[in-house]
Amino acid sequence: MTTPASFRPTPEAFDKLYRGEAAFEGAPPPTAIPWDVHQAQPRLMEVEALGGISGEVLDIGCGLGDNSIFLASRGHSVTGLDGSPAAIEEARRRAADAGVTVTFDVADATKLTGYDGRFDTVVDSALYHCLDEDGQQAYIAGLYRATRPGARLHLWCFSDGNVNGVIAPMGSIPESNLRDTLTANGWRIDFLGPTTYLGNALAFGGDREFPEALAEQMPPEAVEQMRAVTERFEKIAEFLDGDRVYLPFTVVHAHRVD
Ligand SMILES: C[S@@+](CC[C@H](N)C(=O)[O-])C[C@H]1O[C@@H](n2cnc3c(N)ncnc32)[C@H](O)[C@@H]1O
Repeated sequence: MTTPASFRPTPEAFDKLYRGEAAFEGAPPPTAIPWDVHQAQPRLMEVEALGGISGEVLDIGCGLGDNSIFLASRGHSVTGLDGSPAAIEEARRRAADAGVTVTFDVADATKLTGYDGRFDTVVDSALYHCLDEDGQQAYIAGLYRATRPGARLHLWCFSDGNVNGVIAPMGSIPESNLRDTLTANGWRIDFLGPTTYLGNALAFGGDREFPEALAEQMPPEAVEQMRAVTERFEKIAEFLDGDRVYLPFTVVHAHRVD
């Protein structure tokens, strides 16, 4: 199931979430930000250790900046861009606390201008699945312009698999969508397959009812998915390792065709 268009969080909804406010009408304020794990994603750290990051790096949809900060701590020159001013403020604070230099700025990934020919590696850690199909096309075309020939793209997004029974809270991206969008916009896929993404379990489940006012604004299949996620988290919460949980993702490693 792809995420219904009417339930894709807008950049404004993300900004509210980062400010600790309800992202949607009728939703409660967030208990935690689902992807805020105060560290870089383990799978990205592995890619870096294996030599997958080089040259000028763009971390697009960088959120609170932990991936960018990790890459900078490993000696890379990193630009982190996000649509949320609140996220960028906090990312700058975290970089200062970590004592590393990252260029953080607010930008809409679907209208990327001013970065033509700049980057050799692009990291997309959970941005692509936030965009609707037009947004995905505009975004991937923009990445082509923002990169140099041969640039590498590492993209992680929700899949419809499960990790020991844990399923994704939003709709997944079908493999065909990724293949079509990337190849149509000048990228060649070297690998596409299942992987995991570390999430903050405090943001899911608990003994909360899924708010009726929110459910009314969502397509039934999205409500069903969210309810299934909540139920599963309630059942497994006591067995989780701290507040961390692995979610089912797809990873794509691609390179820009000249
Ligand atoms: C699921 S979060 C992932 C954040 C971070 N990459 C991580 O893995 O922790 C998605 C991020 O994409 C950002 N985002 C969503 N739509 C965007 C857009 N059109 N342009 C730029 N950033 C966007 C959100 O503000 C949010 O920070």
